[in-house]
Amino acid sequence: MAINDKRLIEVAFPLKQASLDSMHEKNVRHGHISTLHIWPARRPLAASRAALIATLLPDPGNKDERNQLLERLGGKIIEVVKKKKLPSGKVEEKVVPETVGGVLHWGRESNPDLEWFRRKIKDAYDGRAPRVLDPFAGGGAIPLEAMRLGCEVTANDLNPVAWFVLKCTLQHSQSLAGQHSPLPRFALESTDFMEQFFRSTGKLTARQLERNLSAVQERLFPAPDVDLAWHIRAWGWWILQRAKVDLAPHYPVVDGKEPAAYLWARSVKCKSCRATIPLLKTRWLCKKDKNRILLTMEPNTERTGVVFGLQRNVPQVGGNAAQRREYDKRIGAGTMSRSGVSCPCCNGAIMTMEEIRVEGVAGRIGNVMTAVVVETKEGKAYRVPVETELLAASNAAAWMRAKFEQIPFGLPDEPLPSKEALGFRVPLYGLDRWSKLFTPRQLVAIGTFVEHTRAALDMIRSAEYTADWTIAIYAFLAAGLDRLVDRCSAQCRPDPTPTQSGVINTFSRFALPMVWDFIEGVPTADSSGGYLSSLEWVAKVTEHLSSIPKAPKAAILQQSALTGLADQFDVICTDPPYYDAISYSDLMDFFYVWLRRTLYGFDPETDAAFREPLAPKWNHETSDGELIDDSSRFGGDKSKSKKAYENGMFKAFEVCHQALKAEGRMVIVFANKQPDAWEALVSAIIRAGFVVDGSWPIQTEMGNRTRALSSAALASSVWLVCKKRPQIARPGWDNTVLTEMLERIQDKLREFWDAGIRGPDFVWAATGPALEVYSKHPVVKKANAAGEFMAVSEFLGHVRRIVVDFIVGQVLSHNGAAGAVSGLDNVTNYYILHRYDFGFVEAPIGACILYAVSCGLTDRELTDRYEILARTGGSDSDDEVSDEEDAVEEEPESIPASGSKVKLKTWSHRHGKNLGLETDGRPAPLIDQIHRLMGLWKVGDVVKVDEYLDARALRRNSTFIQLIQALIELSPVGSEERSILESLSNHVAARGVAYEDKQLPLGS
Ligand SMILES: C[S@@+](CC[C@H](N)C(=O)[O-])C[C@H]1O[C@@H](n2cnc3c(N)ncnc32)[C@H](O)[C@@H]1O
Repeated sequence: MAINDKRLIEVAFPLKQASLDSMHEKNVRHGHISTLHIWPARRPLAASRAALIATLLPDPGNKDERNQLLERLGGKIIEVVKKKKLPSGKVEEKVVPETVGGVLHWGRESNPDLEWFRRKIKDAYDGRAPRVLDPFAGGGAIPLEAMRLGCEVTANDLNPVAWFVLKCTLQHSQSLAGQHSPLPRFALESTDFMEQFFRSTGKLTARQLERNLSAVQERLFPAPDVDLAWHIRAWGWWILQRAKVDLAPHYPVVDGKEPAAYLWARSVKCKSCRATIPLLKTRWLCKKDKNRILLTMEPNTERTGVVFGLQRNVPQVGGNAAQRREYDKRIGAGTMSRSGVSCPCCNGAIMTMEEIRVEGVAGRIGNVMTAVVVETKEGKAYRVPVETELLAASNAAAWMRAKFEQIPFGLPDEPLPSKEALGFRVPLYGLDRWSKLFTPRQLVAIGTFVEHTRAALDMIRSAEYTADWTIAIYAFLAAGLDRLVDRCSAQCRPDPTPTQSGVINTFSRFALPMVWDFIEGVPTADSSGGYLSSLEWVAKVTEHLSSIPKAPKAAILQQSALTGLADQFDVICTDPPYYDAISYSDLMDFFYVWLRRTLYGFDPETDAAFREPLAPKWNHETSDGELIDDSSRFGGDKSKSKKAYENGMFKAFEVCHQALKAEGRMVIVFANKQPDAWEALVSAIIRAGFVVDGSWPIQTEMGNRTRALSSAALASSVWLVCKKRPQIARPGWDNTVLTEMLERIQDKLREFWDAGIRGPDFVWAATGPALEVYSKHPVVKKANAAGEFMAVSEFLGHVRRIVVDFIVGQVLSHNGAAGAVSGLDNVTNYYILHRYDFGFVEAPIGACILYAVSCGLTDRELTDRYEILARTGGSDSDDEVSDEEDAVEEEPESIPASGSKVKLKTWSHRHGKNLGLETDGRPAPLIDQIHRLMGLWKVGDVVKVDEYLDARALRRNSTFIQLIQALIELSPVGSEERSILESLSNHVAARGVAYEDKQLPLGS
């Protein structure tokens, strides 16, 4: 492709389709790489595939062909009616958009059209496979999609866990695609395993199995050839049989019923009476309509602790849902509340959280078992633990050290990061070594699985497998074991969803907060949190991965993105770490310590990658390492940390510039949308020698409110397209750059608006084309200030202003004319944007900050000074677990600020006595003036209304009249707000100058 050939992504993109299919993918489980191994912030495959195809293919140059290409890629959008049964039994019908056709939706990656795209891409590169690099490849979504498209992929990540996951994703399955090998003999000999085999492969019916299983089994020699997934299952079964024998004494069977899980609470000694207090947030064990069970708690006779019991069939009390909820909350209260921990043995002496921390750091936080979960035909049943169970759990400590003597590197006693590290709250309570995140019995269990997995490696090596088979089987066994570890720590919480395993995994969110009441599953059990099911997820992923058509072998590197690369690439597509969003290395050390033990001795390359006790962090000598903004790595110095991150990202973009061919394209994903931080990175990209010429905000998170979904797409990632700036590019002048931007952006705004892009997405979509005008110059000088330059942030300030004016113009006059909004103040502009997109429901703070900045305001000014926004403290992060009983916050600090929410205040909640009055000689925002008038009107004070209108000449103010009209249309039909606004509007019209430009109704 020639340098100047436009790529499809620089002209058009199937934005809605990519967003819909990315959101849908969140619900996909079986076979998706997200179920292979935890890795934070994996991008959706649909978004990655769409971006890669549109970057690798040239723009056809004419509308018809372009539209055909877009449809082949993304398909069409149709509306379907979905039915949902509500808890009340009522069925709700909802019209939802869906894609048909295209190659983005999960499951359509094997459509014949994908092969068409593979060929088309190859043709665009003169018959060769284009070379694609992802320098921050993480969990591998982008390189996997590049490989699916037939590209020659290089995937790099500094973190050894990511490197291992990339190897599994991009190499191990592919090396065996289409290959089969005989099932191992031990598997054939097991009735148990073969029954599972025949059932799953559908080769025998249940009846045939019942009658003939062993006969069929005997006839199976020579063994059937099966794919990698079945070899993983077979060896997993081998490991499990051995682990079951070793671990049986640790999970005693009581009354003939095997335990499924144990419920625990952490405990402390009461500071006043020294009794052992269980730290419980709630005493509800089960709260389904027909199964309401409470844990009861009485002081024991010596009052040294409590005796647990169960109250079954707890009645529901209250006339409506809210009353019933409130009642349940009250009767289910645990020992913890916002004010601290109350002792059940000495009339509620309170220990503060600070005191609990002191106990934790001194190693005096213990654990008490509260209940045992047993699987029955009717579902989960609960009972209090018996003596043998308490003993089995406490005896495990004695087994622990001996178990780990056999395992390389022994117990995982490697330190956790400091309590100041991003997202880490557990060290505050004394959990400062990885081993402390597990109960002794969990350590014995995991140690046993590590031991037998390592033993399996010797067996696999001595069986008749080729090197590729040995590597692949063992790597996926190690990945399966990590899945088990994720569900086998004292960070796991009980899952109230009846259909799930009952265990919420450690990394249901990417932070390690303190978990007070936790669940311990039985890893050898058949339940879905156990070893076998962990491995099944992994086996399913290999089935998906090996169905990918053959592509050139991917190169997987484990080095810093700041290290130069010898190769030249056609496309660099990457999703870099973003400031302080996620502390990858610190968090993933949870898996690192286990992988290091499981994989040790596997091969020299893996031993080299895992040679250090923990994964790389930051090297102060070389100023290189993991690029995250974590001041705890810089002695608490925030500015040093930010600078190190920004310099590092700049260097990484420079390396990308060197590694990209002259005609190549770089696509960068920005998943965090704090505008100032975003601008810092865009500046670095431009400084590194790139021209930014496109940006597409792909929505990847499902908003859970209709209003938010329909009008303010909660895009979670902006995909920015860049190319190399020609060497001959010359400095630009601010006035010409701004004029050119204005001309270019107007058409684009109209096009995006007509395409239905709304909300914050609209701002982001406009940013790309605008930046092209700016970034084609190495620097932009100020015409009226010699020696000064216009920074990216200043330029984008102008861009956003234009975008805001356009949107507000649309709301006020439906034609986006800037004139329509001239004179409107910043706060009112903000109000209109917010009201139009979110109404009065909770809105994500990220979007609101963007709007605030675009209007020349800060979110703080809007909440504190103008008081039009209220913080609601909710969280929009997808991994935040809502818990109705959450009287005690898990650890609020671990939730990033961008996760909180805000709400617009309704007019009736805005009644400050100075509302709508001038302050320091400055007029009040127009929206405040209207809200003041509404308050006066409501109490029938027409005289004051007239005085107010006349003093500010509002009857002759066309913007005021337009705004009232727009507010009428934004307010719900039949609402008090609408009726007051209509009366006011009539009153103004009756007594004032008629306003001629009558507005069209919204939506016309
Ligand atoms: C946002 S994640 C990438 C996620 C990936 N796109 C996916 O779909 O899973 C950013 C990655 O950058 C890696 N990283 C951080 N600093 C790095 C560095 N200096 N060199 C290479 N990789 C680095 C992290 O380990 C992390 O995996």
